[in-house]
Amino acid sequence: MERDPLRYALLILLLVPHGAGGIVLGRKAAAGGGVRGETETYAVIFDAGSTGSRVHVFRFDQNMDLVNIGDDIELFVAVKPGLSSYDDDPQEAANSLIPLLEEAEGVIPEELQPTTPIRLGATAGLRILGEEKSEKILKAVRDLFQTNSSLEYKSEWVTVLEGYQEGSYLWVAMNYLLGNLGNKYSDTVGVVDLGGGSVQMAYALSKEAAANAPNISIGNNPYVTKQLLNETNYYLYAYSYLHYGLFAARAEILEAVDGPYSYCVLGGYAGSYKYSGKVYNASASPSGSSYSKCRVEAIKALKINEICTYQDCTFGGVWSGGGGDGQKNLYVASSFYYTAAEVGFIDSETPNALVRPSDFKKAAKIACKSSLEEANVTYPNVTEDNLPYICMDLVYEYTLLVDGFGLKPTQEITLVTKVEYGDSYVNAAWPLGSAIEVVSSQSPQSPALKSFRRLWIQ
Ligand SMILES: *[C@@H]1O[C@H](CO)[C@@H](O)[C@H](O)[C@H]1NC(C)=O
Ligand SMILES: *[C@@H]1O[C@H](CO)[C@@H](O)[C@H](O)[C@H]1NC(C)=O
Ligand SMILES: *[C@@H]1O[C@H](CO)[C@@H](O)[C@H](O)[C@H]1NC(C)=O
Ligand SMILES: *[C@@H]1O[C@H](CO)[C@@H](O)[C@H](O)[C@H]1NC(C)=O
Ligand SMILES: *[C@@H]1O[C@H](CO)[C@@H](O)[C@H](O)[C@H]1NC(C)=O
Ligand SMILES: *[C@@H]1O[C@H](CO)[C@@H](O)[C@H](O)[C@H]1NC(C)=O
Repeated sequence: MERDPLRYALLILLLVPHGAGGIVLGRKAAAGGGVRGETETYAVIFDAGSTGSRVHVFRFDQNMDLVNIGDDIELFVAVKPGLSSYDDDPQEAANSLIPLLEEAEGVIPEELQPTTPIRLGATAGLRILGEEKSEKILKAVRDLFQTNSSLEYKSEWVTVLEGYQEGSYLWVAMNYLLGNLGNKYSDTVGVVDLGGGSVQMAYALSKEAAANAPNISIGNNPYVTKQLLNETNYYLYAYSYLHYGLFAARAEILEAVDGPYSYCVLGGYAGSYKYSGKVYNASASPSGSSYSKCRVEAIKALKINEICTYQDCTFGGVWSGGGGDGQKNLYVASSFYYTAAEVGFIDSETPNALVRPSDFKKAAKIACKSSLEEANVTYPNVTEDNLPYICMDLVYEYTLLVDGFGLKPTQEITLVTKVEYGDSYVNAAWPLGSAIEVVSSQSPQSPALKSFRRLWIQ
């Protein structure tokens, strides 16, 4: 097989944790590198996102605690672009994962490789491509894992995740890292995850609230699933809004605009915005961007006023879950964090920060008053691609939280990219939840694994 040196060059991304902020945190060995016990287990999870592919390798001890792999608490490697960028060449798509696969296999002891599960979850990028194209890509990935990997592979482990799974996995990951699994539902945290293509919300409901849930959501997935985690039953609300991730929402906003320009685009910019194979005209109005006019565009794009057939909806006619104590403490991840860090209203050196939705509004009002040229000076950490959209992104994030999800502008929320875990920081991302699920569901294959703690029983 031919190996494209360019693809290898992309591995320099290895040193940069995901997100635009480029935060590098010291992750020191928790237990001197850890002693390999007989009951440890590994899991390899690929996150095939819309903007890139990433692999996470986790190592658990017999108590289902994470332990170090070398000096780090997880192995994390990323490449760009994502699988959906190779929509006409499924083999190239699969090949883009080879360097990640090699890195992952390299850290797993040989004798454990045949029992180490390898999974791939594709998210919004492949969902948007449609079934035919995405199946071809997944087939090429399955062939690669089957023929070229020494790890334990099952074809059903390589899938497009259902939206609710993405949200549930992140909820499990976050509450696991915070040590909340086993607590009553009101002592867990809710999660919001703003990706490139979709945004997820997940939180635990009371048993009573769960009993009143509509049976089936718009996307035909259940809104609420029952999960047994660390011997405790949870009723988990989870929903993924396709087309409302940050990059997808720009396209929605540019499409929702009446007239030739958007009041969300910074003055002085006249260009086009490409998303998912389509090109949108992105030109500023002659008077520049405007916070209040951009709000109108964002509200329109979010379809706040769509008919709600339930007691309470967020936006687009989606059931809200009814709120409650499982949502009072919200951890808000991915692009919410990256935008705040790039704009500079949180410190990009800290992996999490307590803010309020009104902080996004405040930052938006300032950004929307700037021209592109001024913003280039004011926001040195915003990348060139994002700069024309900095008013749009902040307004959208505020609108999504307050008008979309119904938060009070003054409610405290935690912006998060990594969670402190022992002496380390772990990425707040769904793959850890998927790892916990697959490791919990594995049948003990050796007597040593029999004592293995099953955290997540389904
Ligand atoms: C994958 O496995 C096939 C069959 O064993 C082999 O021909 C091919 O070279 C392998 N590819 C890589 C990238 O290792
Ligand atoms: C499970 O719950 C117990 C107490 O209820 C707690 O000590 C333990 O850390 C939890 N395990 C995990 C992996 O969260
Ligand atoms: C959901 O379906 C069950 C039976 O399948 C029914 O008893 C229940 O009333 C339904 N709930 C709602 C909210 O429609
Ligand atoms: C985009 O809109 C601007 C403002 O109306 C117009 O001048 C320009 O020609 C448009 N560009 C494209 C590619 O349609
Ligand atoms: C840009 O990032 C650097 C490094 O993280 C930081 O020290 C600086 O304060 C940031 N600047 C702004 C304006 O946020
Ligand atoms: C921003 O400033 C840099 C130099 O400081 C310049 O190279 C770049 O073209 C500017 N970008 C915009 C969009 O004005």
